[in-house]
Amino acid sequence: MCGIIGCVSDANVVDVLADGLKNMEYRGYDSAGFCVYDDGTIRVCKGVGRVDEIARNLDLQSFSGKIGLAHTRWATHGGVTPENAHPHLSCNGEVAVVHNGIIENYQAIKVKLEAKGHIFRSTTDTEVIPHLIEEKLKAGRNYRDAVLDAVKELKGSYAFIVLFRDLCDRLYGVRKDAPLIIGLSERGNFLASDALSFLKYTNKAIFLENLEVAEVRRDGYTIWNFKGEEVQHSISTLEWESMVLSKREFTHFTLKEIHEQRETITLAFRQDQEDLDRFCLALQGAERIYIIGAGTSYHAGLVAKHLFLNVAKLPVEAILASEFEEYATLLDEGTLLLAISQSGETADVLSAVSVAKKRGVPVLSIVNMLSSSLARESEQTLYLKCGPEVGVAATKTFTAQLAVIYSVVARLSNLSIDLKQIAEAVEEVFGVERQMAYLAQALSTSKDCYFIGRGVNYPIALEGALKLKELAYVHAEGLAAGELKHGTLALISEGVPVIAINPSDKTYHDTLSNVAEIKARGGRVIGLSDVENSLYDYHVKIPSVEKLFYPLVEVIPLQMFAYYSALERGQNPDYPRNLAKSVTVK
Ligand code: F6R
Repeated sequence: MCGIIGCVSDANVVDVLADGLKNMEYRGYDSAGFCVYDDGTIRVCKGVGRVDEIARNLDLQSFSGKIGLAHTRWATHGGVTPENAHPHLSCNGEVAVVHNGIIENYQAIKVKLEAKGHIFRSTTDTEVIPHLIEEKLKAGRNYRDAVLDAVKELKGSYAFIVLFRDLCDRLYGVRKDAPLIIGLSERGNFLASDALSFLKYTNKAIFLENLEVAEVRRDGYTIWNFKGEEVQHSISTLEWESMVLSKREFTHFTLKEIHEQRETITLAFRQDQEDLDRFCLALQGAERIYIIGAGTSYHAGLVAKHLFLNVAKLPVEAILASEFEEYATLLDEGTLLLAISQSGETADVLSAVSVAKKRGVPVLSIVNMLSSSLARESEQTLYLKCGPEVGVAATKTFTAQLAVIYSVVARLSNLSIDLKQIAEAVEEVFGVERQMAYLAQALSTSKDCYFIGRGVNYPIALEGALKLKELAYVHAEGLAAGELKHGTLALISEGVPVIAINPSDKTYHDTLSNVAEIKARGGRVIGLSDVENSLYDYHVKIPSVEKLFYPLVEVIPLQMFAYYSALERGQNPDYPRNLAKSVTVK
């Protein structure tokens, strides 16, 4: 839930670390910190706020060093304070650590270390790591073994990087259930949570496996497993271009990524046919399929449930990843788990996968991030191919998930995909952008907003509401249109906005009846539909597509609405409060 980076180079690393951290701010942006080795000491600069503010306020430019660490934080253990920002140092300042994840047994370790005289300066779980390593060094262990010995005592899921004051030409990185990647460049080498952080300098990466420790030097690296045995990994060449990290002409990454859907939807439809065949064969062979995901990915899972059941005729249930364990009673060899996740690192998803695997259940996945933990845990993975998503809110990855799901369903049924029609409709839907900006302004004082839809459009109502909540901080609810009269209708009074997702599919007339019920109570209805109706106070015209494909063109205006609502309400849509993109804690 945090981003970590370390760099060892033959030049000053301060700007490289600051750049890298900015490209990982989506992982957390409560606080940030840096440390570099400078003339026999480890200098630290850390504070509360965004990377740029901290660098400016604490004069990061006065720092200089050829090896260093940096961290961007999303608080889990310990409040958002300068003391709790990373890096954390051991008592004698000999060991500095940046960490992403959770040390579950930190309290017990802390008590033991305090009894030995260690003084803690923060309330984080992380701080036990440098103190523990310092103890191992005092006991005469060499640097690598001090790290390996410390790891034996740590419980939880974590990745961390260590800089030793008296060893200023190498870093150590540890991976256990949280990502850590080595980046190799001619001017120096990296360890980081995400390759995005060093993509500007190199596209050569090594993805550490779980339970591994790496020593990264200026001119090389060595990797061991937790038993201390050396292991070899191949070097991957990342296909992502560093251009993806620029906002181009857009003011925010979120808007850029909404617009990228013109291309990314088509790219996601172009799955390798052999991969697709193998994936579908596994689905067909299952007696029962559980689809899991969290947040937006769960909403994609609900669309998949509708299409798998009604079109591909597969026995399927969709369950929130965080609730999966509660429903795991029927798991057996006939069951298959399909996990959907942008990051492939969501703790709730990985935990559900682990429950399933323990029962011998095969796992398939739909993922964006290459070599993520979920991809590694899966027997087969279909990738979204839509490049990195920097905005915290999922936008282009949601429609890419839908495109992959449609591709799977088409392979399993007689559903035909008219890619040309879809691409044209997606292009056309961008014509409503000004209308969505106008609506965001017109509704900028509304305290609540409801979204309704039926059938395959219901998950889009949920997604529209989620986007508005997370970007604009407006209370929003997505409802199956038929459910409104079972309680929530009581909240509809004069002027309360309701967005009715109502394409001309078989749900059209029933949803229109619900619209009439809302109108009768004074609600203000925005109809998102390919056909006009006098019941709507405001009509947003979406393009006509084959009926089951409406979700693709419905969600884009709702993403725009949330984006412009955030701007109207003075919020930064790229960095919604309290959130982080990759939720690696349960
Ligand atoms: C919403 C959003 C989150 C994620 C959720 C799952 O815009 O981004 O709800 O969808 O945290 O994340 P992944 O897909 O990475 O598993």
